[in-house]
Amino acid sequence: MESNDRSAAGLQGRRILLGITGSIAAYKAAQLCRLLVTAGADVQVVMTPLAKQFITPLTMATLSKHPIRVEFFDPENGAWHSHVSLGEWADCYLIAPATANTLAKMACGIADNLLLTTYLSARCPVVVAPAMDLDMYAHPATQQNLHTLAERGIRIVEPAEGELASGLHGKGRMAEPETIVAFVRELLADGTTSSPTLSEKKKSLQGKRFVVTAGATIEAIDPVRYLTNHSSGKMGYAIAGELARRGAEVTLVSGRTALDTPVGVRRVDALSAAEMYEATTAAFAEADGAVMCAAVADYTPAEVADRKLQKGDGEMTLVLKRTRDIAAALGAAKGNRLLVGFALETHDEQAHAEAKRTKKNFDFIVLNSLCDAGAGFRGDTNKVSFIDRAGREDMPLMSKAEVAERIADKIEKHLVSCSAV
Ligand code: PMT
Repeated sequence: MESNDRSAAGLQGRRILLGITGSIAAYKAAQLCRLLVTAGADVQVVMTPLAKQFITPLTMATLSKHPIRVEFFDPENGAWHSHVSLGEWADCYLIAPATANTLAKMACGIADNLLLTTYLSARCPVVVAPAMDLDMYAHPATQQNLHTLAERGIRIVEPAEGELASGLHGKGRMAEPETIVAFVRELLADGTTSSPTLSEKKKSLQGKRFVVTAGATIEAIDPVRYLTNHSSGKMGYAIAGELARRGAEVTLVSGRTALDTPVGVRRVDALSAAEMYEATTAAFAEADGAVMCAAVADYTPAEVADRKLQKGDGEMTLVLKRTRDIAAALGAAKGNRLLVGFALETHDEQAHAEAKRTKKNFDFIVLNSLCDAGAGFRGDTNKVSFIDRAGREDMPLMSKAEVAERIADKIEKHLVSCSAV
């Protein structure tokens, strides 16, 4: 009941262009359309020619109360279906289901049907809900395409895990219509009416200098072996990129990752916790704030062997010593500068995050828990909560690019409230 009310609040009078592509999940587009219309949205539908094999235009026209667009023109009377005006009309272009084929074409800018030409000319936020077989979803080509689209500001409603049309079980099922509606409602409730291009993004952090730590540290045991963790750097790199897009001067202190440096960001590589301590404290001396996203080793081998350790017959004991806590050092020296921390937890999340926030003097901490599907290491999504003195704010599952936007928004609010004091 409550979720319906909230859906209505964000969707009343909104113009949603629903794009349907050729996937078995197209049957869910009927329910999706119905939920949007019930929530007060005006829905128009554009379909790819193949989508008509999965759900009829008649069904979608009846539910949306508008004629359906498939072809560039009406073969009966030659009337032109303008992709430009469709894109201009919409407050949000929602492509659900989005097949691997359509996502690939979107990433490459291919425009061989009305749904795609409309995408290329849309000025509103674009949301895609991928639907495909698990291997197609996991394929590096599809992941790269999704990454490219996320980088360009396309919002992605992650597919769910479950039984697929192929009979296989895995990740690739289109998210449920209720989840997609909630996602769009939340997006539009933010007041976002257009999807700004990189150059149009507001330069709201112009003149500010930030340090961002990202990725995993590696602690040498000998010249061959080391201790590390699962961080890919994706979350921290997304934050660095977002702060730079908003005009900040960003120093990214990076542990081990395979990622490209975000546009406009100065990157300093620091592989061990000790190197990261030196690079981060040096950069913070000149900065207005820092975001501590790296997964830093808390312990490092007490001795690093200068030659490869040879195996013996019995057990081996490795003696570890504590590393220096970089965030705590910045917290002690921060004055009125802004410090944002992360907490990666597996249990007692709230208590642990709150304790870290206080101990390290963070203005706010971003909690992510490995108990939440799609959160934490490696993937392209995260589910976070912001905790500050005023309390806790839970975010839905979203792409790391979008989490980075939310963090940047919160940083901006903190800067405004600090300057108002
Ligand atoms: O890189 P990805 O694959 O995208 O994954 C993202 C992430 C899961 C690594 C990221 O979202 C995250 O949670 N980063 C913090 C991981 C962590 O080490 O959390 P922690 O709870 O152990 O540490 C608390 C805070 O202290 C963190 O801000 C950490 O950066 C900082 N810290 C910890 C130890 C240390 N010696 N120095 C530090 O600065």
